[in-house]
Amino acid sequence: MADELKRGLEGVLVAESDLSYVDGEVGKLVYRGYDIEDLARGASYEEVLYLLWHGSLPTAAELDAFAADLAAEREVDDDVIETVRALADAGERPMAALRTATSMLSAYDPDDEADAGETTLRQGRRITAKIPTVLAAFERVRQGEEPVTPDPDLSHAGNFLYMLTGTEPDDVSEETFDMALTLHADHGLNASTFTAMVIGSTMADVYSGVTGGIGALSGPLHGGANQDVMEVLHEVDASSKDPVQWVKDARDDGRRVPGFGHRVYKVKDPRANILEEKLRDLAESSGDTKWLDYTTAIEEYLTEQGLVEEGIAPNVDFYSGSVYDSLGIPVDMYTPIFAMSRVGGWIAHVAEYQEDNRLIRPRARYTGPEDSEFVPLDER
Ligand code: CMC
Repeated sequence: MADELKRGLEGVLVAESDLSYVDGEVGKLVYRGYDIEDLARGASYEEVLYLLWHGSLPTAAELDAFAADLAAEREVDDDVIETVRALADAGERPMAALRTATSMLSAYDPDDEADAGETTLRQGRRITAKIPTVLAAFERVRQGEEPVTPDPDLSHAGNFLYMLTGTEPDDVSEETFDMALTLHADHGLNASTFTAMVIGSTMADVYSGVTGGIGALSGPLHGGANQDVMEVLHEVDASSKDPVQWVKDARDDGRRVPGFGHRVYKVKDPRANILEEKLRDLAESSGDTKWLDYTTAIEEYLTEQGLVEEGIAPNVDFYSGSVYDSLGIPVDMYTPIFAMSRVGGWIAHVAEYQEDNRLIRPRARYTGPEDSEFVPLDER
């Protein structure tokens, strides 16, 4: 049994964690025992960060102090902004730009990297506060606009939208975006969180872990799927096909439908249910139901085809893009927004793991040749 190979580490237990639990059979997600529905509807992203990082929901006074400390860390050094400009000018993709800029942030961190365990949460707070500033600056520069200085009086969600557009968001936009951040904050040992943990388990600093997490999240099998979903919806919109025809063609070509399927969920992702409801509210109030109609048609068709019953159901990425679109956020910023939220989970898991650290070092079954006879270079 010890030698049983688990491709993709499916179902392998590698750690104990108090942080989040995903029940893929019934479609339930909890952060420290709290149902994601309750948190998404009742708690701000700052409250969720506090919960993940400090173990309990904050009192009003604790939240005020925590949110103020976080907001005080939002500004980034001018050198980082100049690098962001250079990356935007070079046409870098947003997730790659975020990866580079996050790594660079460590140069301006006042803490000593050598104390990885002790400083993880303090440095993590700085990274979490600065990532929105980096992302908004990147987007502004790309649009030929100047970056907007963060406003410490706004919430984490509100300030990001403000830095992106230059105007304070209305309440609905701020609440919607805050809910999206809460929904994406943590999700067990997903690929990017595990990446950050592996790096953290070497007692490397948290900048390394978060930078690695960003890289893992960028892939189309993970966070990149939210952008892919929206690109499909745009492609359908620009073509004469109806959404169901697009899906039929994609499946005939052996392509996967982005936003469907999950390693853990065998039923519809609870986060997808919450975002679908949000999308419905937004579509009803704006009168623009296009994305809602397309996504509903695709989901209905794949349900009729038995895909959902087989366990390939809508995941969080199926609805998040349409919600971001209603906030006017560009498509290639969707995955960076996922990173902007999930960074909270990465840091929580790295800090938790480092409390009782053991180097993560699995092994592979060797299938290469044995006893190869070495031939010197000049005789080959
Ligand atoms: N469309 C069509 N078929 C699918 C899909 C899909 N989206 N997802 C899985 N399948 C099929 C797959 O072809 C395979 O069938 P078969 O056994 O006949 O070859 C079977 O389901 C199992 O797939 P798998 O790749 O072995 O399963 P996995 O647990 O490794 O995959 C996944 C999980 C998320 C990588 C996969 O479902 C997928 O590629 N989905 C599309 C991309 C996506 O939406 N990713 C976001 C995941 S949720 C948010 C996040 O974590 O970032």
